[in-house]
Amino acid sequence: MSTPVEIAPASGKLGVLLVGLGAVSTTTIAGVFAIRKGLAKPIGSLTQMGTIRLGKRTENRTPLIKDFLPLADLNDIVFGGWDIFADNCYEAAKHAGVLEEKLLDQVKDELAAIKPMSAVFDRQYVKRLDGPNVKKGKNKKDLADQLIADIRTFKADNKCDRLVMIWAGSTEVFITEQPCHRSLAAFEAGLEANDPAIASSMIYAYAAIKEGLPYANAAPNLSAEVPALRELAAKTGSPVCGNDMKTGQTLIKTIIAPGLKARMIGVAGWYSTNILGNRDGEVLDDPESFKTKEESKKGALDYIFQPNLYPDLYKDISHVVRINYYPPRGDNKEGWDNIDIFGWLGYPMQLKINFLCRDSILAAPIVLDSALFLDLAKRANMHGIQEWLSFYYKSPMHAPEIYPEHDLFIQLMKLKNTLRYLKGEDLITHLGREYYD
Ligand SMILES: NC(=O)c1ccc[n+]([C@@H]2O[C@H](COP(=O)([O-])OP(=O)(O)OC[C@H]3O[C@@H](n4cnc5c(N)ncnc54)[C@H](O)[C@@H]3O)[C@@H](O)[C@H]2O)c1
Repeated sequence: MSTPVEIAPASGKLGVLLVGLGAVSTTTIAGVFAIRKGLAKPIGSLTQMGTIRLGKRTENRTPLIKDFLPLADLNDIVFGGWDIFADNCYEAAKHAGVLEEKLLDQVKDELAAIKPMSAVFDRQYVKRLDGPNVKKGKNKKDLADQLIADIRTFKADNKCDRLVMIWAGSTEVFITEQPCHRSLAAFEAGLEANDPAIASSMIYAYAAIKEGLPYANAAPNLSAEVPALRELAAKTGSPVCGNDMKTGQTLIKTIIAPGLKARMIGVAGWYSTNILGNRDGEVLDDPESFKTKEESKKGALDYIFQPNLYPDLYKDISHVVRINYYPPRGDNKEGWDNIDIFGWLGYPMQLKINFLCRDSILAAPIVLDSALFLDLAKRANMHGIQEWLSFYYKSPMHAPEIYPEHDLFIQLMKLKNTLRYLKGEDLITHLGREYYD
């Protein structure tokens, strides 16, 4: 045992501000309302259903995570957000078509009461979308100030104690780090000068972090992961995590790949294709938005397989990722993976995975857990990149000098050890010699 970290209590209300009240956000919000009413269970949420082993296996101490740590209670959450469409959350959830109307109707009043604040949006960054509920401002600094005013008004109107912000807006076009991202001073000058390298998501991230709010990026676009915003987070004490939630195909990839590698099974190629028919799929049909997603999806295998350490097994893997917009499927994505593997003496084999998943059903618990864990991090005074939340993300944010950890099982161990550390419990190494001495 060591000294526990001081964690402020989760008293009062937690405001969860979602940028983009589309399929993912409305499925999260409606889900929390349904769970609060006892209509459904929080399946998929580690904060709500997961346990954590403490001490030795002989001690039989495995509390629920939510009983072990002072997480905000689901009853204390207030939701709000921004969207370029003015539909309230009930209408938006119906439009998204993820949850059945029967369920939505049971939480209709609460959902309909959430009306999106007007958005900071520019078509330059999401070519396939346009909507009327958009702010006007003299420059990007002015827009950031308007978002800060929204944040403060929301906090006061809803009597929130604390807030977190999560970007669940559409995937923006691919942007790489530019000079205006390299320092806070350059970024703030860029806001004034309307620098095109500052996308809408960055204006939200800036506003959140400037206000000291925890910020998560649930999408793949470069949002808070630039030196300027890291500098700001260090100043204001904001914890941040992202990018791009690990849901369908990439979740399965990061479950299968560590297993193949653990047994030293070689991989010659990994072909992944998806059909998807929701608005996200429509946005990703634009090559520039798809490029952002593709980069995010492709990273995981390289890091898990470490071809530099295992050239005989993983050098030159042919890794292909496709997403095709196919409206009839709506949010119910179908993914196919063909994996060409080889074993003893190089003999080839194949593995085929056909995953009929529901994108937003897999994403909603990640949004909830990110909000609750980031709020915990803030109360525990942990700021900057929260690598222990990599577990939830396809392109985990990481310190510039290290590579990101993609293996789901290492990520889970890191997450749970962080929770043990916060409470002063012994970290679990799984060495286990003591049972046999
Ligand atoms: N569902 C998943 O499994 C999953 C997994 C990983 C990442 N994501 C990402 O999460 C994001 C949301 O996914 P979704 O399925 O809810 O998409 P969606 O299209 O249903 O919702 C996105 C919403 O964001 C709004 N929006 C876009 N730009 C905005 C802006 N600047 N300000 C405010 N609102 C804005 C859109 O109007 C839309 O309502 C996407 O970027 C997607 O790639 C989803």
